[in-house]
Amino acid sequence: MSKGGGGKGRGRELLVNAYSEKWVRKGFQWVYRQEVTAGGGPLGTEVLVRGPAGQVLGRALLDDGWIAARVYRMDDGPLDAAWLDARLDAAAALRAQVVDPNTTGYRLVNGENDGLPGLRIDWWDHFAVLVLDSPAVAPLVDGVVAWLERTRAPRGVYLCYRPDHRDERDFARVQPAPGLIAGHPPAGDVGVRERSLTFRVRPAEGPDVGLYADMREVRAWLEPHWLGRRVLNTFAYTGAFSVAAAHHGAAEVVTVDLAQPAIERAEANFAANDLATDLHEFIVEDTFKAFDRFRRTGRQFDLVLLDPPAFSRSDVGIWSAKRDWPRLVAAACRVLAPDGWLVVASNQGELSPRDWQGLLLEGFEKAERRAQELTRLGQAPDFPAASWFPEGRYLKVSVWRVL
Ligand SMILES: C[S@@+](CC[C@H](N)C(=O)[O-])C[C@H]1O[C@@H](n2cnc3c(N)ncnc32)[C@H](O)[C@@H]1O
Repeated sequence: MSKGGGGKGRGRELLVNAYSEKWVRKGFQWVYRQEVTAGGGPLGTEVLVRGPAGQVLGRALLDDGWIAARVYRMDDGPLDAAWLDARLDAAAALRAQVVDPNTTGYRLVNGENDGLPGLRIDWWDHFAVLVLDSPAVAPLVDGVVAWLERTRAPRGVYLCYRPDHRDERDFARVQPAPGLIAGHPPAGDVGVRERSLTFRVRPAEGPDVGLYADMREVRAWLEPHWLGRRVLNTFAYTGAFSVAAAHHGAAEVVTVDLAQPAIERAEANFAANDLATDLHEFIVEDTFKAFDRFRRTGRQFDLVLLDPPAFSRSDVGIWSAKRDWPRLVAAACRVLAPDGWLVVASNQGELSPRDWQGLLLEGFEKAERRAQELTRLGQAPDFPAASWFPEGRYLKVSVWRVL
């Protein structure tokens, strides 16, 4: 980051083509490699971006991956402390408006959507996790840590990366190295509050610390609907939905995940909420296997949750969201009691809402069930989706009543 308008890379420029100019003028903050016509420099260098006629488009940091530069401001001003503090203050002001004061785990900065491409900051009670898309963003880190220390005195700050499959970078060797970069580590798991619930998270394991805060509004919407229901939570991870269900009076909650550590953490989350685990079931198993067993034994549920990853491998085979959604929905329908509810979630931004809807309808047809969509939900407001960033709205959730 430049100090008062100078510093590393002073005077460096990047020339981009007319296509890139059009997008940057709309607010899009990425310049792709093939859009660069001249200029450049080492990774992390601050540059002035110019269009084909030499007009200034903004200030950027150079990358050497599938993205050539991230544009941080749309004028020729420097990426200095005053600029960074203003961006961070604006992001924090939004969270003060939209995050309930009883919620202590949330996203403080949502990358491109808060005008800070490649940088996410998650707040976990008194700990911060900085998630970088690339080491090219590293020049901002010291300034972010200084701002965090001044405005919210974190006990510890962790740095981690969110590897992108489009990058060929070896993230295992990347510098600055991931880990604790300020303060001290927590004594154990950190307990964060979400509404009336507590979840245990591990900031050192970022970005996936043990709670998906983007699902908070989905849990809130479901709150009045758990009472007395038999719930099956598949792809459950650390059981956040199971905890919510049990806390709000579900008759029984069955939690299924392929990963044993996830199931152990789900049980620990029950304990953190004073919920007896012996009333509920925790199963380390492939979701399809579990569905098959429940169907064969005639076991039924009133509400089934499906929140699979884009891709996974188990002893049963390979799960690929694009291919397998209809099969998954059909399998869930077969263990749903009449008029039971199905909650489906996809965090795959590249799967359009329309295509996803088509896959879900195919699943209902396959199971020979009809269904009513009750609501569509999305990411919590601390994960804002910017109008200038098409990838910003990635989370799709819908709730169905299956007749
Ligand atoms: C996107 S996370 C689910 C997040 C969770 N619904 C929540 O809100 O906390 C996906 C989870 O699916 C699990 N998983 C992946 N493949 C699986 C499979 N075939 N059967 C069961 N669980 C699977 C992973 O271990 C991971 O915990």
